[in-house]
Amino acid sequence: MSDHFSNKVVVITGGTDGIGKALVQLFLSKGAKVATCGRNHDKLYALQSSFPSFPLHTIVADVSNENDCRHFIHSTLKAFGGIDILINNAGISMRALLKDVEVDVLRKVMDINFFGAVYCTKFALQSIIERKGTIVGISSIAGYRGLPGRSGYSASKFALQGWLEAIRTELMDDGVNVMWVSPGFTASNIRNAALTEDGSAQGETPLDENKLMTPEACALHIAKAIQNNNRSLVLTFKGKRTVFMNKFFPALADKLVKNFFFKNGKLIK
Ligand SMILES: NC(=O)c1ccc[n+]([C@@H]2O[C@H](COP(=O)([O-])OP(=O)(O)OC[C@H]3O[C@@H](n4cnc5c(N)ncnc54)[C@H](OP(=O)(O)O)[C@@H]3O)[C@@H](O)[C@H]2O)c1
Repeated sequence: MSDHFSNKVVVITGGTDGIGKALVQLFLSKGAKVATCGRNHDKLYALQSSFPSFPLHTIVADVSNENDCRHFIHSTLKAFGGIDILINNAGISMRALLKDVEVDVLRKVMDINFFGAVYCTKFALQSIIERKGTIVGISSIAGYRGLPGRSGYSASKFALQGWLEAIRTELMDDGVNVMWVSPGFTASNIRNAALTEDGSAQGETPLDENKLMTPEACALHIAKAIQNNNRSLVLTFKGKRTVFMNKFFPALADKLVKNFFFKNGKLIK
């Protein structure tokens, strides 16, 4: 795999934690030039400091802000001369029932997970076309199957996948591959950072993170799929089973998903 990515310019949004951080580490180890962003300066500084002699460009940018995305992509083009692969990874989740949630929470999740990908892709597109590169969206199983208590998250991932499918078709004659990846449960900070009904972070995870797929394993699957020019990728056994059940037995999937996400009538967060 190392030859394939050597000297390629790989842009990964949200590279300071979880899957994004593992992708940054993996692509640097494969000889790629990597650019990443996040909202937290200290985390970016720590990441940059841990790769002192590597071609790593980091910049503070909130992907829900169009100007931040413009600056992030333009500074990457200036630093590395072009973009081969864009991985729209930055994302945030939510945990609240529709009856309780403030609408602004849904809007914020959509602004980050969907519009963040739109902005970065739009600004990077010309260079990616010139290099016949790859555009990736990190979606979720929630991009195939709406999940209770995560309605805004599910909506953002459905939007992301539909949009990627559309531009995939637009870009077919340009030699650009557009792909979406749907990880299953993967150990990361996403559940801690998930927004509750009033927009504050949940601050805890209900899952045993040690039992989930590691972000490093997830990153390896993603890199392989990019190298193989795949159309889409669904990860973990549970993830594949959910997508399958929902496609062929949607009413049964409703019941199974309800049983999984509610205990004694209470939402599992
Ligand atoms: N982990 C899972 O179980 C799982 C499953 C399915 C899909 N996914 C998807 O995988 C992607 C990565 O998630 P993860 O699990 O690795 O989450 P994570 O550990 O919480 O990492 C998220 C990363 O995105 C950055 N980020 C969040 N909001 C941002 C914003 N507005 N602008 C720029 N950067 C932002 C975070 O940094 P800052 O907070 O400092 O900005 C962090 O670096 C997401 O799209 C998520 O939906 C994850």
